[in-house]
Amino acid sequence: MNLLITGGAGFIGSHVVRRFVTQYPEYNIINLDKLTYAGNLENIKDIDQSPNYTFVKGDIADLEQMRSVIKDYNVTGVIHLAAESHVDRSITDPLIFVRTNLIGTSNLLQACKEAWKDNWEGKLFYHVSTDEVYGSLPLDDSMFTENTAYDPRSPYSASKAGSDHMVRAFFHTYHMPVVISNCSNNYGPNHFPEKLIPLFINNIINKKPLPVYGSGENVRDWLYVEDHARAIDDIFHKGIHGETYNIGGHNEWSNIDLIKTLCAVMDSKLGREVGESEKLISYVTDRAGHDMRYAIDGGKLQDELGWTPSLQFEEGISKTIDWYLTNQDWLDNVTSGTYQEYYNKQYGK
Ligand code: NAD
Ligand code: DAU
Repeated sequence: MNLLITGGAGFIGSHVVRRFVTQYPEYNIINLDKLTYAGNLENIKDIDQSPNYTFVKGDIADLEQMRSVIKDYNVTGVIHLAAESHVDRSITDPLIFVRTNLIGTSNLLQACKEAWKDNWEGKLFYHVSTDEVYGSLPLDDSMFTENTAYDPRSPYSASKAGSDHMVRAFFHTYHMPVVISNCSNNYGPNHFPEKLIPLFINNIINKKPLPVYGSGENVRDWLYVEDHARAIDDIFHKGIHGETYNIGGHNEWSNIDLIKTLCAVMDSKLGREVGESEKLISYVTDRAGHDMRYAIDGGKLQDELGWTPSLQFEEGISKTIDWYLTNQDWLDNVTSGTYQEYYNKQYGK
């Protein structure tokens, strides 16, 4: 197995790369990443000397480069995570999301098709997607299933929805072996501090305001990132080709409840007075087109592949906060941009 993992220097990708490099020493893992602002090789420095690991700096939007990589490394499997992933950035700059998520994914599919079309045996293209393609749920107990109609509402989720459709088109039209998973909100170590949980941890540490969008009643379903990596492993090895699997945490929180919990746990860990960090909460203008609620029905994954989340939220959030508190250098490098100067020197801009 020569397994190409794209986006392996990012948040979820780094946990997926670590899992596959350590659990499958017989696989050659090729981590391809453009090292955008979100890519940080420090995330995987503990495994980067492993004999079955290779890093390639590359851009999925560059078709010629993708053709070369698939050919040069005789790639037989792909787990595709590379993406622009932040909704707020997609509101200010939608076209980069079209370029990477839609065109980039299509390029990768095309390069794989050209290399694999004479023999699909033993090949697999695994596309990692999001629950946001299904749109927004009301504040009730409805859930997204694999049969929920697509209804993306942000440039980010629309570009991911488009990429999902291209993957299915390659399955139906060319018989490319593919699987897709759509996952809920992840949290854990190495999460870039522009997303809610790591941003607020960093702001609480530095006693900066906590900008709550709108009323704070929006709901997300949170999953610990290592549980997502384990689900990807299960789906990659046991998933039925052409199928989609939803992955969720069974763990819904309104933003404001989650933020208040975060404040309380951090006050206790930082030896601050009870209620001190909550005073940093500041209600700000809502995100444009803000989806109200996401919730995943993970019944198919549980029934067919036996996967369930392993970590309770209380344990996961405590582990996550501890990681940020003991990796202050990582946070400082990321927030100051130092990590990018280093990689630009090593790999070129
Ligand atoms: P991230 O932003 O942390 O990482 C994305 C990685 O992709 C970075 O390392 C970046 O350098 C790389 N990349 C970006 N553009 C590239 C390009 N043109 N060519 C090659 N590499 C490029 O993202 P994440 O949160 O780890 O998400 C990973 C994947 O999982 C995405 O596809 C995302 O849509 C999906 N997803 C994320 C979540 C979540 O909660 N974070 C939930 C469900 C699904
Ligand atoms: O559901 C899966 C998706 O989860 C992934 O596909 C995306 O890549 C990932 O970024 C995430 O999207 P969200 O928009 O849900 O995540 P974010 O952390 O940006 O926001 C979580 C919630 O918190 C959302 O309701 C908006 C709110 N929020 C966010 C930020 C950054 C705030 O209230 N204030 C903030 O400063």
